[in-house]
Amino acid sequence: MPCTCKIGPSILNADLSCLADQSNHLMECGADYLHLDVMDGHFVPNITFGAPLVKCLRAKVPNAFFDMHMMVSEPERWVKDMADAGADQYTFHLEATKDPVALIQLIRQHGMKVGIAIKPGTSEKELLPYIDQVDMALVMTVEPGFGGQKFMSDMMPKVEFLRQQYPSLDIEVDGGLSPKTIEEAAKAGANMIVSGSAVVKSDDPKTVIMQLRTVVESWIPKWPTT
Ligand code: DX5
Ligand code: ZN
Repeated sequence: MPCTCKIGPSILNADLSCLADQSNHLMECGADYLHLDVMDGHFVPNITFGAPLVKCLRAKVPNAFFDMHMMVSEPERWVKDMADAGADQYTFHLEATKDPVALIQLIRQHGMKVGIAIKPGTSEKELLPYIDQVDMALVMTVEPGFGGQKFMSDMMPKVEFLRQQYPSLDIEVDGGLSPKTIEEAAKAGANMIVSGSAVVKSDDPKTVIMQLRTVVESWIPKWPTT
């Protein structure tokens, strides 16, 4: 199956007091999915929200695909709660678990898709034993923890390597993605684009989402196919 472009706004820097309205608005503006950043104040130096919020959000945003970016220690702990809350995909950090294979199985048993993420300091080679078992690989393009940071161009060789090895893999990038940086990510081979502040802080999220999509779609035919 060839890759398709998917744009997933991160709601981290949205107005969290009206998250459901903001989420529905982003979907109406052309988002393909929502990227929900869960932080525990331990794996990263920031705290966001957990499954109770996701459950409330699901009730008011029934159809959006929820990609849970779990920036937490012990990701095993929240699999059931997130599945019960209505999460669609559980993206855990490779650095946070001692047993990725067992965690992948646990996520599948709970009916969710599986994403596997690496921080900037982790080599993409460490993902290789698990790639065939997951639905998506997330290459962080900032140190996880906060929105609004600068895109790290030096992560692009990781994306290029993965795209070369796995032409049909969903490869997500997260951190500092905007109309200014999308070309680099798209050229390298990223097809799932998380964008936080560039989308939610814009007066015109629809245009920003369209700009991101146009650039990725222009690069997809140039990516390796075999
Ligand atoms: C950072 C989060 C990101 C963040 C992206 O730790 O994982 O999802 O919200 O926000 P921007 O696009 O503003 O860098
Ligand atoms: Zn994220």
